Amino acid sequence: MTKTYFITGTDTDVGKTFVTRLLLDQLNQTQSAIGYKPIAAGAELIDNQWRNDDALILQQASKPSPDYQLINPICYPQAIAPHIASELNDSPIKLADLDRWWHQVKDNSPISLIEGAGGWRLPLNNSDYLSDFVKTHQFEVIVVVGMKLGCLNHALLTMEAIKADGLTIKGWIANQLEVPMDYYDENLAYLKQAIGEPLLGEVKSNQACTTNLFSF
Ligand SMILES: Nc1ncnc2c1ncn2[C@@H]1O[C@H](COP(=O)(O)OP(=O)(O)OP(=O)(O)O)[C@@H](O)[C@H]1O
Ligand SMILES: [Mg+2]
Repeated sequence: MTKTYFITGTDTDVGKTFVTRLLLDQLNQTQSAIGYKPIAAGAELIDNQWRNDDALILQQASKPSPDYQLINPICYPQAIAPHIASELNDSPIKLADLDRWWHQVKDNSPISLIEGAGGWRLPLNNSDYLSDFVKTHQFEVIVVVGMKLGCLNHALLTMEAIKADGLTIKGWIANQLEVPMDYYDENLAYLKQAIGEPLLGEVKSNQACTTNLFSF
């Protein structure tokens, strides 16, 4: 039996990769989990191949560690919105391609963590969103809340949108980022009472590893 979680966040740069790596490290102490980054925008040429930092981090933290191409099938050089990068590179993002890719990799480990790109409603083109891919496969969703000014609004809207899409929220993770926010405890207390979903864990600033971030 395989289990898949889609890791989204309240925005770009809120710690989705940071937290996913922690989860992989934790899970891989006792079982086998792979992290995926289906769509990446922003890459460097390594041995003549475009490589994205997030995907490399997830590849390294995965057990077994699959070929790069399996972790990250869509990779654009430019660090810009993926649908714009897809136009610049004349390489459209198609939901059917994502579905085919997932079909190919989904049984590679008992637990898969799929990192999104940007926030929840990420456009793939003028008609589709990355959230459509999550809906098709009915993945449970984990929301990384980057604890900074503005996150209350972002967190509530993100939760609302995921629920409106009819998906199950496994829970959320409060990530303190590099610089802890002012009044962190008060903001966390507000979110705890406002979000009716489990707080799976708190990741402190610069923490290498949290214990029992959550259990599957
Ligand atoms: N708890 C933390 N402590 C210290 N640094 C952190 C923490 N969380 C995130 N960071 C740092 O903040 C930056 C952004 O984090 P990260 O790359 O994980 O965000 P992201 O949501 O995955 O971004 P993207 O939308 O580009 O995928 C990185 O440099 C990361 O190392
Ligand atoms: Mg990331």
